[in-house]
Amino acid sequence: MAAAGLGVTERRDAWWLENLPVILILSAFGIYATLRAMEGGHYLWGPYLSPFYSPLIDPDHHFIPKWFSPALIILGVPLGFRTTCYYYRKAYYRAFFMDPPGCAIGEFKRNYTGEAKFPFVLQNLHRFFMVPSFFFLFFLWYDAFEAFFWNGQFGIGLGSLIMVVNVTMLSFYTLSCHSMRHIIGGNLDCFSCTKFGLIRKGVWNKITILNEKHMLFAWISLMTVGSTDLYICLVSRGIITDPRFL
Ligand code: FES
Repeated sequence: MAAAGLGVTERRDAWWLENLPVILILSAFGIYATLRAMEGGHYLWGPYLSPFYSPLIDPDHHFIPKWFSPALIILGVPLGFRTTCYYYRKAYYRAFFMDPPGCAIGEFKRNYTGEAKFPFVLQNLHRFFMVPSFFFLFFLWYDAFEAFFWNGQFGIGLGSLIMVVNVTMLSFYTLSCHSMRHIIGGNLDCFSCTKFGLIRKGVWNKITILNEKHMLFAWISLMTVGSTDLYICLVSRGIITDPRFL
């Protein structure tokens, strides 16, 4: 049981060390992604499209005002999916809200209502963000495929490979989602009593293996999506050149 008072504990280990990287990485990513999404430029180079801008909507500003970045139209789904993710919730409740800061660590004295009241009740929307996330994955795989074609000619640049790695990691992150595991089989009491039960059990077993690594995929995919955008931005600005292997 957590002791009374913020940070009061009988633990002797450096429990706070776990929260430091969460604060640093999530803050850095949040600032970077916000600035890049609002910039509205340097998101395209050759066949490469930044994942922050995919799917690309009205890049020539026929319908949206010039000052409005196309990334802002689509940002809600990936942002909602990440912020309501079960793993990230644990991480930022501990690191930012200190509610509690860790296992058996004293927290702020509050009237704790869990996630049953506004605004935290909105965390329950996670499963509804998961479904459109698969549409995003579809576009990102298409972008990764397109990244191998230079004016219709097949070619491989470092950016092509970076885009494949990114969408692979994002796919692992999405497939390992707790809501995904629940939809496939977590909501069943008996696989053999239901339609296609054995198939569902097989898929559920595979999803469970991925699910055990969900925290890892959450961090790796966060890094790859930021790095992919940064790479395309730097190449587009002419700060670095994209090596071509073919
Ligand atoms: Fe993390 Fe669903 S629980 S993405």
